[in-house]
Amino acid sequence: MAAQPIKNMEVKKESFLEFYIHGELKRVNTVGLKPEMTLNDYIRNNLGLTGTKNMCKEGGCGICIVSVSIENPVTKVREVFAVNSCLVSILSCNGWDITTIEGVGNRKKGYHAIQDRIVKLNGTQCGFCTPGMVMNMYALQQSGKTKMADIENSFGGNTCRCTGYRPILDAFKSLAADSDEALLGILPDIEEIKLCKKDGCEKICPTPCATTPKTPLYYDLGSSSELQNVGSVSSEQVWFKVSTVAEIFSIINNPNNENRSYRLIAGNTAKGVYKDMNKRDYYIDISGVSELRTHSLSTTRLTIGANCTLAETMDIFLNIADRDEGFKHLTKCADHLDLVANVAVRNIGTLAGNLMIKYAHKEFPSDVFLILEIMNAKIVIDNGSAVQSVSPATFLNYNLTKSIIRRIEIPPLDNTFFLETYKIMPRAQNAHGYVNAGFLFRVRNNSVVAASIVYGGINPNFVHATAAEKYIMGKQLFNNQNLSVFFQNLSSDIQPNHFLPDPSPEYRKQLAIALAYKFILSLAPETTLSADVRSGAKKLIRPALSTGVQEYTVNEAMLPVGKGVTKLEAVDQASGAAQYTFDLPDAPHQLHAAFVYANFAPGSKLKDIGTSKAMAITGVEAFYKAEDIPGKNTFMAPINPFFYNTDEPLFVATGDFLKFYGQPVGIIVASSRDIAMEASALVEITCDPAQTSPLLTVPAVMAQNATERIHHVNTILPSKIDREAKVKFEGTFNMGCQAHFAMEMQVVQVIPTDDGGLHIQPSTQYIDGVQYAVSDVLKMPANKITITVKRVGGAFGSKLTRSQWTACAAALAAYKLNRPVKMALSMEENMNVIGKRNPAYCTYKVGTDENGIIKYLDQKIYSDVGAYHNCVPVMQTLDALTNTYVSNTFDLEYNFVITDTPASTWARAPGAVEGIAMLENVLEHIAYKTGKDPLDVRMANINPAHTTLLSMINQFIVWSDYRARRKAVDDFNKVNRWRKKGLAVIPISISLQFLVNHYSQISIYHIDGTIAVSHGGVEIGQGINTKVAQVVAYEFGVPIEQIVIRPTDNMISPNNFGTGGALTTESVCMSLKAGCGKLKERIQWAKGIANLPDETPWPLLVKNAWALGVTLTENTMFVQDPNGPNKADYVIYGVCATEVEVDMLTGSHIINRVDLFEDAGDSSNPFVDIGQVEGAFTMGMGYWTIENTVYNHDGRNMTTSTWNYKPPGPKDIPVNFRVKLPSNQPNPSTPYKNKATSEPPTCLGFSVPLAIKDALKSARTQGNPQADGWVPIDGPFTVENIFMKCMNNFNQYRL
Ligand SMILES: Cc1cc2nc3c(=O)[nH]c(=O)nc-3n(C[C@H](O)[C@H](O)[C@H](O)COP(=O)(O)OP(=O)(O)OC[C@H]3O[C@@H](n4cnc5c(N)ncnc54)[C@H](O)[C@@H]3O)c2cc1C
Ligand code: FES
Ligand code: FES
Repeated sequence: MAAQPIKNMEVKKESFLEFYIHGELKRVNTVGLKPEMTLNDYIRNNLGLTGTKNMCKEGGCGICIVSVSIENPVTKVREVFAVNSCLVSILSCNGWDITTIEGVGNRKKGYHAIQDRIVKLNGTQCGFCTPGMVMNMYALQQSGKTKMADIENSFGGNTCRCTGYRPILDAFKSLAADSDEALLGILPDIEEIKLCKKDGCEKICPTPCATTPKTPLYYDLGSSSELQNVGSVSSEQVWFKVSTVAEIFSIINNPNNENRSYRLIAGNTAKGVYKDMNKRDYYIDISGVSELRTHSLSTTRLTIGANCTLAETMDIFLNIADRDEGFKHLTKCADHLDLVANVAVRNIGTLAGNLMIKYAHKEFPSDVFLILEIMNAKIVIDNGSAVQSVSPATFLNYNLTKSIIRRIEIPPLDNTFFLETYKIMPRAQNAHGYVNAGFLFRVRNNSVVAASIVYGGINPNFVHATAAEKYIMGKQLFNNQNLSVFFQNLSSDIQPNHFLPDPSPEYRKQLAIALAYKFILSLAPETTLSADVRSGAKKLIRPALSTGVQEYTVNEAMLPVGKGVTKLEAVDQASGAAQYTFDLPDAPHQLHAAFVYANFAPGSKLKDIGTSKAMAITGVEAFYKAEDIPGKNTFMAPINPFFYNTDEPLFVATGDFLKFYGQPVGIIVASSRDIAMEASALVEITCDPAQTSPLLTVPAVMAQNATERIHHVNTILPSKIDREAKVKFEGTFNMGCQAHFAMEMQVVQVIPTDDGGLHIQPSTQYIDGVQYAVSDVLKMPANKITITVKRVGGAFGSKLTRSQWTACAAALAAYKLNRPVKMALSMEENMNVIGKRNPAYCTYKVGTDENGIIKYLDQKIYSDVGAYHNCVPVMQTLDALTNTYVSNTFDLEYNFVITDTPASTWARAPGAVEGIAMLENVLEHIAYKTGKDPLDVRMANINPAHTTLLSMINQFIVWSDYRARRKAVDDFNKVNRWRKKGLAVIPISISLQFLVNHYSQISIYHIDGTIAVSHGGVEIGQGINTKVAQVVAYEFGVPIEQIVIRPTDNMISPNNFGTGGALTTESVCMSLKAGCGKLKERIQWAKGIANLPDETPWPLLVKNAWALGVTLTENTMFVQDPNGPNKADYVIYGVCATEVEVDMLTGSHIINRVDLFEDAGDSSNPFVDIGQVEGAFTMGMGYWTIENTVYNHDGRNMTTSTWNYKPPGPKDIPVNFRVKLPSNQPNPSTPYKNKATSEPPTCLGFSVPLAIKDALKSARTQGNPQADGWVPIDGPFTVENIFMKCMNNFNQYRL
């Protein structure tokens, strides 16, 4: 029955929203509120609760998650769940109880068990993601989902770039009802859990329950008065809250609203996918309409309210499937929904909302649409006077004017129906499908009597594979001849379009056909299948629980150095107290700056910048361009060749050429960040078009023979020349870039000081660089520039030179206007303009003997530096290319190449990742050509001088059970055609040289003997502050709790090298050793003067020294003297074996197991070091498998959001991740016998693509005996790349 509008409906006007935050009632005046204002904006900006972060603002990263308790409109029971506060409009929050990280536990009231666990199990590094992680777990725990498998499955929406997830998952699983005691051996702190019995909800509510408002009501968001008519909208924006369908129609059918635009608000998550939050005249919040949230079951159908959330729908599906034979297939659809978005989105995102995205954007590969269409469901549409039931396919073109989706009706299926769905995604969770597919066949006596085949991700108009459906009707299904024609029909049905950054049409077409084959294999009785193809029938499903080993020994000689100490900041990070630059409160009269971008192809000439429209916006204060810069127009500080080779303009000047798409031409300064960004988009830029197409990659430069872009830097000639070789071959290898994806974007706050200087607080790894660059840009004496940095929310190299850019821009504005200015890049801006890991390309010619021993290797390396050659990792690449193996026959030529992309920049283990990969690729190729085991080839070539490495490898072979597993993998591959395994081992040795300087300052307070330290390193998550505190505690023999670490500061650490290259912690610790030594000497002197006994407690020793006038502070700088006693360079070793399993019919893979030895010397803190190892490996793994940057023909980056750029998620990590820090390997080169760990394991990630290659080798040769099993690496092994290299062909698809 259609819902009739209510005559004379009364709509109550409310001027205040009411909700609780941590039990405290908030009343928010709605006048002037904008629907675009999110809960996240309110929490951070209005309440100053900055523990809740934001980054992507599209539901993709999870750092904004809060827990909410909301009354379910159907059951009237309050439910607790996680939401992404960046997606929720503040106007939706009336009646909500909201808990942010600050309310979960804090310094005053004590910490929650979840916070405690993530601290104890070392689940934080930079800590920027930590509040979101804790809040997701908190909501999960309160909602009663506390099984380990639920927990492991629920973090797909939470990105952590630092940790590699293992410790986070372990921390949370240790709180599970079925927790494995090995995880911690401690049961959950149940006293923390307070059950609320109100209305029988039995949920855990930390606060009083807010009252759900009586509806209908409306909030007038403008200055206008009462509604002129029942439900009619005044000239200003209005937000309605309704609780019946009739109320919806009363409003939208009110004649006074005839020409007014509106939007229904259910979960409001669609804006995470398509950001079309264009202003509407009015909004109707329908989340409380119970009729749209109910469900019922009859013999003929399951009826579900259109606005049931996806999470509710999954529960309903599983419940009904359990109860009713006719709905067994719903389990499969629930599993499919589990792959849609992530928990926080599914908690509020609804069926109808999803369908409406598909309705508005036909190209959207909606999973909801797919499963409804394949189940023969009906969508019931209500226009207020009639209801119409249509199929999902018909719905797409149905006239929905002033209509709503009312409900969904799903018919039962008897046991002659076979249903299956697939979704192939770039990573395991929280990604849209490249192709999704649904198959429903009715089969009797092996003959098809009904067939439905639905695909998403093909082209906007594609729904059914009609020719294939028609062909297969009435045919015997398990017949190779029929199948062959069936696949041909599919091939003609499927005509994919191409819209970047989607994968290629060819892949999507072949994948779609392969999925159909997979479905048919899954139906076929085993007896009809040859044994080897059976492996194609099953989906590649990751085990529910991952596990790991962390093995290390503690060297007790210098405790607490050597002890596993949890990070000093971990508690503050886990409770949201840790403050980052991004969180700094606005200073009085503060303004916000945003870059203005020239969105034109590189090579375009900047003609004019029109700012009149932008300047007309209220709140805009100024626009500055190149000509306004008092000093030099470059943000690059000419410090040393590590960090500077050429100028890079702060803003492109008029008359100059753009070097890459979207290069900044100026900044807008305004009263808020939103206004600055809105105004920035209104600046009108004109350019003379580029004369040539951009060259975006090294292969493109080579193809154009643009030799002027190729610059030779260095050649290492062989000292031994022997061109005689049994085996000779050549090859190429192409590596892409990698976005740093630090969770805290580039951000800076600049405050003018009363002496005409500036106080700058950048999120930077390099205070000296910022000081130098700002000084040059403003022509300001360096001593007037004060810089402090407390901590950085992830950096990985992106905040070495690149943070100078935003710092200079904001400093220019602050200087010109004499007002504080903050500048924070959005995720898209960051991805667009900040350069990435250097892509690289190499060619090689190699000759070996029959055992694979290299006789010669000629390798030419081409490093893509982007538009400016400031970060050229020559030394690191060449070092990695010669280090492990006997290299006196190597002829290595290093070139850098200019391309039309943002300047590449340092990224974790820069150069080393490329160098190791290039050489390991050659060794793998040798093994392939000689037919030897790849590990044996490596052992034969390793430089015998690396005795530590050789001994590590020998231990490792036993520890990882390599030989037996190698055989098992080969045996598996022989009998499985469509599922393959791969195994690869790589060793590394990386040299570390301390040719850099770092300061530290220690101050001891006579009052109580406590100690404060400031040092020249920056805490970026690598644990430097904790290791520093350990060293100081050891040196003075005091408890670590007596030491605090103060921010990095250019007064204390002037002229200090940047933090990076895994050098800083060691270097700072060495400066501390010297400083502590001097202080100890003075304190001992005073002790002698006062004749104090040896057992005098530390506070008294300090007091005594102070009384005798001893200076209790010491500032020391460490710099290596390469020829003297300070010589501190050393080699770091590692070895890693990765085993993967690949589905050759989809290109998806699982990393089944990783065994990893990392040489940490005598680890100074195994907790921190294991965290670094796991995190670095995961970043390397992401680089080689998932992370893919795609540019369009204009050089525009098409992968700038969480929707299309995917770092690894928690279910992409190894299922079994075994890490060992070998014992008894003290490092003689450092005083604390340890080695650096933060970068080298990134290089071990290369074992993943090698393992995939191993699997591919078997697939290629088994499918095509003539085929070359060798697969050149060309960019990351994405699902697309893997599938395309399988050499599948549907002619091979047989039973
Ligand atoms: C990070 C992320 C990842 C995602 N991944 C996937 C994925 O992998 N696969 C996939 O299929 N989807 C995915 N989605 C989409 C997600 O499923 C939708 O955002 C969600 O279902 C929309 O529901 P909503 O209630 O939030 O809609 P809203 O945002 O509230 O509304 C969306 C539109 O629907 C209209 N609308 C809502 N209810 C009705 C109704 N009853 N009748 C008529 N119109 C109505 C609204 O007016 C609005 O125009 C993803 C979303 C995000 C944010
Ligand atoms: S900021 Fe909300 S999910 Fe990323
Ligand atoms: S600790 Fe997770 S992003 Fe840094």
